[in-house]
Amino acid sequence: MNIIILSILLLLCHNCSGSSNTKNREIIQVKSENDVVWIVQLSDLHFSVHHPERALDFQKFVSSTLSMINPSLVLITGDLTDGKSKDHLVMKQNEEEWVEYQKTMENVIQMSGLDRSIFYDLRGNHDNFGVPTVGGTFDFFSNYSITGQLGRSQSVNSVTLQTSSRNLLFVSLDSTMSTGLRGPTNLFGHPTDQLLTELNSHLSQWDSTSSKLLTKIAFGHFPLSFSTPTTSKKNLKQIFLNQSITAYLCGHLHSKFGKNLKRHHEVDYETDGNLIQLNVHQKGSSSNKNCQNGGKKVDEFWELEMGDWRKSRAIRIMAIDKGRVSFIDTDLKTGSKEILILPTYPLDSRYMSTNMLNKYKCQSMEDTSHIRALVFSSVIIASVKVRIYDSSHGELYMVLEALMSKNDNLYTVPWNSEAFVDPSPSRYWLEIEAIDINDEIVSTELMPFSLNGLRADLSWTWIELFVMGCQ
Ligand SMILES: *[C@@H]1O[C@H](CO)[C@@H](O)[C@H](O)[C@H]1NC(C)=O
Ligand SMILES: *[C@@H]1O[C@H](CO)[C@@H](O)[C@H](O)[C@H]1NC(C)=O
Repeated sequence: MNIIILSILLLLCHNCSGSSNTKNREIIQVKSENDVVWIVQLSDLHFSVHHPERALDFQKFVSSTLSMINPSLVLITGDLTDGKSKDHLVMKQNEEEWVEYQKTMENVIQMSGLDRSIFYDLRGNHDNFGVPTVGGTFDFFSNYSITGQLGRSQSVNSVTLQTSSRNLLFVSLDSTMSTGLRGPTNLFGHPTDQLLTELNSHLSQWDSTSSKLLTKIAFGHFPLSFSTPTTSKKNLKQIFLNQSITAYLCGHLHSKFGKNLKRHHEVDYETDGNLIQLNVHQKGSSSNKNCQNGGKKVDEFWELEMGDWRKSRAIRIMAIDKGRVSFIDTDLKTGSKEILILPTYPLDSRYMSTNMLNKYKCQSMEDTSHIRALVFSSVIIASVKVRIYDSSHGELYMVLEALMSKNDNLYTVPWNSEAFVDPSPSRYWLEIEAIDINDEIVSTELMPFSLNGLRADLSWTWIELFVMGCQ
């Protein structure tokens, strides 16, 4: 009798904690034989009654692209609808646009064959023009977004992709919620202290789970430079640094301020003393079981703004391959692409994290044995090749060419990585080329890589020079 009552109590209790957790702390089991997981990000769709082509193109090109890529998550980081009158003078929510958004997303879900629950859409400032209260008269987001329909009603939500060896934690934040001001006053995100507390809690949910490796990624609408501090003067950057996230994915800026809106953030060490301490710590870390975090926590992350769907038809594919994060930003301006290639190892030295240096020292943790790339295609691929160029003599000189072998979407080839360890993070450049059965050739842009965690700080003209020089 007692046992029965106890079990009922336990069941009830399990349910109460479960129900609060399931909606805004989701877990998705992912099968990943090759220890690689990939996701897609889209942003700033601005579906508008005055521009029906935005939604039409989205439906047509994003469905087929998603179906080809088959990502584990689809993140849509805000400004789902435009909320502007034709003359741009009046800004308010337009239900017609929300109906269009909902219909388009339904079709995309159907046509791509993906599960609705892997879609995460967020409010942007345009989705909040003239919305005085959440759940109020003009809050169409709550009714028409996927987030709203799935009952993810909190301003912070998280989803963990679990593989057999890793937890990949994605945390979304909505910093528009407390303000329903009309633009341009809501051009900024306004995170509150409450939001930062929730963010901390979500980001640390796996910290004590030592049986699995952990990667943390946050996503929101506003870049950090467009996010105000809270009333107690705290900010998102502090939280992200403290929580050792790898990247913060955002939108909002379109391509107005240039194409390359990616920033590396790190702790400003005030004295050399701190830096010395850091180095000492790194040396001692090789036997540390905690090697995946570099032994010593290095406080840094990448902020990756992605451009917009509205005009640029931008789409980002990001991979986490053995914990290493890589991405390509491309566009569907000319329609969906038949082949998309994402090199996942070695990593692009322009977007390197310094703590890769630690990882490299943990030889047992870091698998440097193969060059790896994901190839997605809607046509049959005949072959995939990697080429490496040495730029040290002022021109590109090919030093390696090899055929890669296929294992699902992943193509790999063994190499002698030691031979490419170099003090210059822009000496060696990588290119992957796929040829389909109709002899169509698609190759990646040339990409500098570094094996020792050194970051290349290159201007685009440099890269353009090489790209042009090669072709
Ligand atoms: C959202 O849906 C609820 C329930 O159907 C409805 O009462 C409410 O008016 C809707 N809100 C908006 C802004 O349309
Ligand atoms: C840093 O994160 C830890 C949890 O990992 C938390 O306990 C602590 O309060 C955070 N510090 C700040 C300044 O946010």
